[in-house]
Amino acid sequence: MSDKLLDVKNLTIHYITEDGTVKAVNGVDIELKKGETLGLVGETGAGKTTTALGIMRLVPNPPGKILSGEIYFEGNDILKISEADMRKIRGNKISMIFQDPMTSLNPVMTVGEQIAEVIEIHEGLNKKDAIEKAKKMLELVGIPGARHVDYPHQFSGGMKQRVVIAIALACNPQLLIADEPTTALDVTIQAQVLDMMKKLKEEFETAMILITHDLGVVAEVCDKVAIMYAGEVIESASIEDLFNNPKHPYTIGLFGSIPNLEEEVERLNPIKGLMPDPTNLPSGCPFHPRCPKATELCKTQVPKNTDLGNGHKVRCLIYEGLVEA
Ligand SMILES: Nc1ncnc2c1ncn2[C@@H]1O[C@H](COP(=O)(O)OP(=O)(O)O)[C@@H](O)[C@H]1O
Ligand SMILES: [Mg+2]
Repeated sequence: MSDKLLDVKNLTIHYITEDGTVKAVNGVDIELKKGETLGLVGETGAGKTTTALGIMRLVPNPPGKILSGEIYFEGNDILKISEADMRKIRGNKISMIFQDPMTSLNPVMTVGEQIAEVIEIHEGLNKKDAIEKAKKMLELVGIPGARHVDYPHQFSGGMKQRVVIAIALACNPQLLIADEPTTALDVTIQAQVLDMMKKLKEEFETAMILITHDLGVVAEVCDKVAIMYAGEVIESASIEDLFNNPKHPYTIGLFGSIPNLEEEVERLNPIKGLMPDPTNLPSGCPFHPRCPKATELCKTQVPKNTDLGNGHKVRCLIYEGLVEA
């Protein structure tokens, strides 16, 4: 068996709505080894959350539909297994921290009960033992175990976020998908939470997909990066290769827009123009209307995924030798 934990091939997910078909995810490939962390980066609307929901098999249907692809987890295609088997994997082997996690806590349950609930279900412990383990999980994310009797409203934003992480880690998943886990937090707390996630990942060898629009976060935590644009991974590489040697004009544009320390910028707004409307994607390369290098050919020819070696892949006609760099 290979050391691949997750192997997503050609995943395509569309939302079929009255206003048209939203082509959210269009042939995404993702590979992850045990213990590895991938940063999934892209502007709002690039298809990051939909990709994650696809891996969890939680795409709302309708309007969402997984049109094609394979998602191998530990060698089995989880798109082919029963919902009952998927439920055993979800929250047990694969766990997800949702975007806007603050709302995923139950206001009328103590945080200890909420963590213990996961442990009871997945490890079959009795309530008392589960609470004991819940206390340990709280300590692990830097909250005194004695506070297990408190309710979510008694915690600060950063602490609530850490509780959510404790819940996601309570079953000791092999894969943790964290969808913008720190976006709602202020910068100092954000750094603390990221630092903690990094330590936990090292301690438990949890593989992680960290979804973010912040390249700074990626540099800090991830082993490799996939850059998404209009539902496609347009470039993927190790951290070193991507930061030292970005290839896709879009990625290069992203780096060009990294603010210097004096400026404070909340959101990526990299390159002139907007993300294309996913109900009406451009022909050829979806980035061509914004691309400084675009030629006539880019308007019609769909770029292939070119392997530059060392796991560095890019979708751009320049690297097929068809367009001048
Ligand atoms: N339930 C839904 N119904 C219709 N369109 C959706 C739904 N969820 C997401 N979308 C659309 O799919 C596209 C990708 O969204 P999403 O995966 O949330 O991107 P990201 O997480 O990168 O911001 C967007 O155009 C979004 O509006
Ligand atoms: Mg999202």
